[in-house]
Amino acid sequence: MKIVVIGGSGRIGSNVVRRLVAQGHDPVPASPATGVDTITGEGLADVMMGADVVVDVANAPVWDDEAVREFFTTSTRNLLAAERNAGVGHHVAVSIVGADRLPDSGYLRAKVAQEAEIEAGSVPYTILRSTQFFDFLAQTVESGAEGDSVRLSRGLMQLVAADDVAATVTGLAIGAPVGGGVELGGPEALGIDDWARRLFAATGDNRTVVSDPHARYFGTELRGGELTPGDGARIGAIDFDTWFATQPQGVAG
Ligand SMILES: NC(=O)c1ccc[n+]([C@@H]2O[C@H](COP(=O)([O-])OP(=O)(O)OC[C@H]3O[C@@H](n4cnc5c(N)ncnc54)[C@H](OP(=O)(O)O)[C@@H]3O)[C@@H](O)[C@H]2O)c1
Repeated sequence: MKIVVIGGSGRIGSNVVRRLVAQGHDPVPASPATGVDTITGEGLADVMMGADVVVDVANAPVWDDEAVREFFTTSTRNLLAAERNAGVGHHVAVSIVGADRLPDSGYLRAKVAQEAEIEAGSVPYTILRSTQFFDFLAQTVESGAEGDSVRLSRGLMQLVAADDVAATVTGLAIGAPVGGGVELGGPEALGIDDWARRLFAATGDNRTVVSDPHARYFGTELRGGELTPGDGARIGAIDFDTWFATQPQGVAG
């Protein structure tokens, strides 16, 4: 199958492209780096020609509230229009578990808006709602940095490896459209504060972790399980220790 991977140079996209090649498919990585821009429309009609499936794993270059919402809605509208013109039979996108439960976060509102565009469009689709990637743990922890300590929420996160996300996206892309969402989480749910302690133990970081129920995550307070998937979610196989062992020194911390 010809499968266009929008964001094919990114973390998830490049991994999906490798997996599709290994399985004998014909993936086409598409992003500004290859002359395809979902915002300006450049290169979209050409890359869609003869495509069976489009996987959208692009991410916004700017994350302030208005810009990120504009990115995901415009990008998705332009993509779906090009897919309709080319007769593409399946649109696969990656969203975030619980995005609809946290309307105070601009980034999560933008992902909900992306999902709404897909649901309202006429291209058969599958939305993978993933939990947060291990790769963003260090950035999340640093968002609470205050001198020699980090102040973080006790809200649960069920971190997942990008490799498990890419494997799941690949499987969904070569399957039939689900016409709805599929959830994916990692093997363990911990408070963000406890994830920080786990990370600090692994990296030898001596800072103190302060647990604060009012500390914000992406602009929003967490009460408990908003970011964890429900019953029936797929569960990735890669746990923290296995993921950490694959990280180049310095990257994970
Ligand atoms: N981070 C998390 O914890 C998490 C959790 C659940 C879901 N997700 C979702 O997972 C998806 C993939 O994330 P990622 O971390 O793999 O992204 P990433 O590594 O930041 O890659 C972003 C990709 O988007 C492409 N891109 C940017 N602007 C574009 C445009 N105008 N047209 C076409 N492509 C464009 C980039 O292309 P160039 O390299 O050419 O600039 C790059 O290939 C995102 O939708 C994100 O919301 C993330």
